Amino acid sequence: MESFATTSAAHRRTSSCIIVGAFDAGKSGPGIDDINGASGGYIGNMIRGGDISTQPGSVQMLNDVPGVRAKRVLVVGLGKISKFDVAAFRLAVTAAAKTIRSTKIKDVVSYLGTADVNGTSPYYLARYTMESIGASLYSYNETKSGRRPRAPTLKKIGFAVNSRSASAQAVRGAEHAKAIVDGMSLARDLGNLPPNICTPAYLGRTAQKLARKYKNVSTRVLGEAEIKRLRMHSFLSVTAGTTLPAKLILMQYKGAGQNKPVVLVGKGITFDSGGISIKPSPAMDEMKFDMCGAASVIGVMSVVAKLKLPINLNVIVPACENLPSGTATRPGDIVTSMSGKTIEILNTDAEGRLILCDALTYSRRYKPDVVIDVATLTGACVVALGHHRTAVMTKNDELAAEIIDAGISADDRGWQLPLAEEYERQLKSNFADFANVGGPHGGAITAGCFISKFTEGLNWAHLDIAGTAWKSGAAKGSTGRPVPLLSEFILRRARAIP
Ligand code: BES
Ligand code: MN
Ligand code: ZN
Repeated sequence: MESFATTSAAHRRTSSCIIVGAFDAGKSGPGIDDINGASGGYIGNMIRGGDISTQPGSVQMLNDVPGVRAKRVLVVGLGKISKFDVAAFRLAVTAAAKTIRSTKIKDVVSYLGTADVNGTSPYYLARYTMESIGASLYSYNETKSGRRPRAPTLKKIGFAVNSRSASAQAVRGAEHAKAIVDGMSLARDLGNLPPNICTPAYLGRTAQKLARKYKNVSTRVLGEAEIKRLRMHSFLSVTAGTTLPAKLILMQYKGAGQNKPVVLVGKGITFDSGGISIKPSPAMDEMKFDMCGAASVIGVMSVVAKLKLPINLNVIVPACENLPSGTATRPGDIVTSMSGKTIEILNTDAEGRLILCDALTYSRRYKPDVVIDVATLTGACVVALGHHRTAVMTKNDELAAEIIDAGISADDRGWQLPLAEEYERQLKSNFADFANVGGPHGGAITAGCFISKFTEGLNWAHLDIAGTAWKSGAAKGSTGRPVPLLSEFILRRARAIP
């Protein structure tokens, strides 16, 4: 996808489509004023006559508007001018993106970013536009027979801006957006692939492919013999029931010399049946998405590598599947983790924390500046926050604020849950250092508490993406979250945002 910024007037653009916005009550809008001037009030008349709605998110495609060079004008309703904020802007862009997806338009210029949007900048407006259009063009078609749906025809997106300095910002925003969209698409593909294809070895090969594509990335994939040598018996207990070999995937990007790295750890359970504590059948297929944490951190690695950001990043993915069998771990088994701490496995379905604790212990060798694990960890998180917020847990409130703030800017939001001593007590075991499950209450938090036992002294946060990583129902599929949040977090740390 090509992109560019332009300061030219709407009626003079020669693109196959320009996107303009209409506010309520004759308040005109971005791009519209200019076109009304050039067309003798053509669109204004249609709005007043009720032929074009200014309702937020409504769209109307017009052809051959008098005095306008572009073939088409897409008018998007923006609602009340007094309420026009980032959310309203995104709604408008998403509506426009959906319309364009179903056309054969090859190039488009959006004038929406020339409006005043409170609390943002031309950089973010261009980034949101490019991200929305890019994400709406995503389609999964790996495993359907027959003709593939035709590739999207849109090849070029332009952003109209009001000034030269805004133009430089918009170009940067578009460049970042393209990398983020690619990272999300990679994450979504990995999530959507079936568990008989997207195996631990497949995740490993994907990571290696990335290292071949980007010279600044190196990847190592450890097999079970090496995982055993590292004494990751907690991790190994989860893979005990399957014949597929587990992998520990290690990726490294160096863009900032000897600086301490950001470390991202992603839960890579390629299928979670629950093990001996087996899950009920309905919707069990969705446990193929239990590697979305892994997919997101691999996606973020691709973003960072593509943008060549001045930062150091390590990605750790413990990958395996959780199945029952005669060799599977039993409820009651006690294992010794890499840290030396012992764990009584009371429920084999609480497996995510068992692989994460060993991966987090491993992360210490990188002497991280910050380490964030990302996991579809608990059904309880979905009960607590639903599908709109990723749960953020950390004992460092400054780090929580940094993550949540990044999520707001990226429109990929998080919400903090407490990690407190009162909850930790639920993990008491009579036979080991702790049990792998607490009681039925506050399950997202007790899972976070369990992991915190292994991250003492680290600047660590945990993201539970169980509610945000995929959608169920008719629109079933991976969302690519939290690639935008984590990319924003790293872009900020790399001081790459103008
Ligand atoms: N992968 C699941 C969490 C999950 C479940 C995410 C449903 C999204 C939807 C995780 O491994 C799991 O099974 N967690 C258990 C923990 C429990 C046994 C303490 C859960 O949430 O039921
Ligand atoms: Mn489970
Ligand atoms: Zn799981």
